[in-house]
Amino acid sequence: MLYLLFLTSHDFHEFIQARRSIRRFGEEMPPLSSIMKAIEDGMYAPSPVNSQPWYFVVVMGERERKEIEERIEWLIPPQGKRAYIVVLWDSLKTPGWAGIACMGACCENILLGLHAEGLGGCWIGSIKEKDSLRTILKIPQHLSIFSIIACGYPQEKPLIETGEGRPYLDKKKVLHVPKVPVKERVRVIE
Ligand SMILES: Cc1cc2nc3c(=O)[nH]c(=O)nc-3n(C[C@H](O)[C@H](O)[C@H](O)COP(=O)(O)O)c2cc1C
Repeated sequence: MLYLLFLTSHDFHEFIQARRSIRRFGEEMPPLSSIMKAIEDGMYAPSPVNSQPWYFVVVMGERERKEIEERIEWLIPPQGKRAYIVVLWDSLKTPGWAGIACMGACCENILLGLHAEGLGGCWIGSIKEKDSLRTILKIPQHLSIFSIIACGYPQEKPLIETGEGRPYLDKKKVLHVPKVPVKERVRVIE
């Protein structure tokens, strides 16, 4: 039993650390059932007094996907077909820092849920013209567009390396993602 527990926690850490932002996707659209499971994971995130201030629009249709693509910015140019999860925040229900914090926790759970479904995701915070997007997607006034999560079948395997700074593509177009070693950022007081 102890052995099993060890394996489980080891696998869990490995699973979390293996999640990468994916921007190159396959030519098939991801299945709605997997997206819904990932969103459900997002909805199990902690929130202040369990206020759960999140709502979502899943965008699969070509016309609306294009409208989103005209408004978002990618760190690395994207490829392939992706659906979009538009993550909406009821900032009246959970305002300020606490609202932003739990919306972030929700987004991270969604990314991990997509990863568990064999899909790749990318959290997009750079969104222009949110008001016109709100009209196109028929989003009620009391909800703000918090973020958009692109998702699809992963067609790249980013490499982790030690360091910090922006991810970059090498000559072979492989994405490298520098991560700071844990010891460099943690001070323990015993
Ligand atoms: C709040 C937030 C906003 C982000 N916005 C964008 C974005 O607009 N475009 C993009 O390509 N990636 C975006 N990313 C993804 C980051 O670039 C990515 O998480 C970072 O490079 C580390 O890579 P990793 O997720 O594979 O660890 C965002 C991530 C976060 C947490």
